[in-house]
Amino acid sequence: MEPLEIVRLVLLITHFVGLAAIIGAWILQMPRRSGFDFSPVLVGSIVQLVTGIALIAVNELGGNDIDTGKAITKLTITLAVLGLGIAGIVRGRRLRRRGASDAALRPLLWAAGIAAVANVVVAVVWR
Ligand code: HEM
Repeated sequence: MEPLEIVRLVLLITHFVGLAAIIGAWILQMPRRSGFDFSPVLVGSIVQLVTGIALIAVNELGGNDIDTGKAITKLTITLAVLGLGIAGIVRGRRLRRRGASDAALRPLLWAAGIAAVANVVVAVVWR
């Protein structure tokens, strides 16, 4: 196997781990009404950004053209997930410091999870 192909596969596998961190955090915390942990959303979205951009580079180096519209759509959605992760962590800390409930953060976690699933749909359906 070509070294570039090995790099591409390692990046793609890491890309799946990042995806699992975001969607897994959403699914596991679905029954909760408070006490949310947004760190897997933050870490997962950073992993998706880094591996996604690296995957574009490796594909281009290997002569496989990546659809620009698809890449921009995935990038935009991932930046939104990153924003939701940061907002969840910052607002969660502020609420906990005041001893208040973080119940209001539930829609942020759902939005992050649904946006990540939307990116899976884009990745798989957009050919
Ligand atoms: C929540 C964020 C993301 C999710 C859930 C996600 C999901 C996926 C999935 C499921 C695949 C495999 C598709 C297949 O092999 O059929 C994939 C591949 C890929 N992703 Fe992502 N992705 C995300 C973010 C990104 C970002 C930010 C970029 C770059 C801007 C990106 C670029 C790519 C590339 C280049 C591939 C491989 C080529 C392709 O199959 O189109 N992804 N992604």
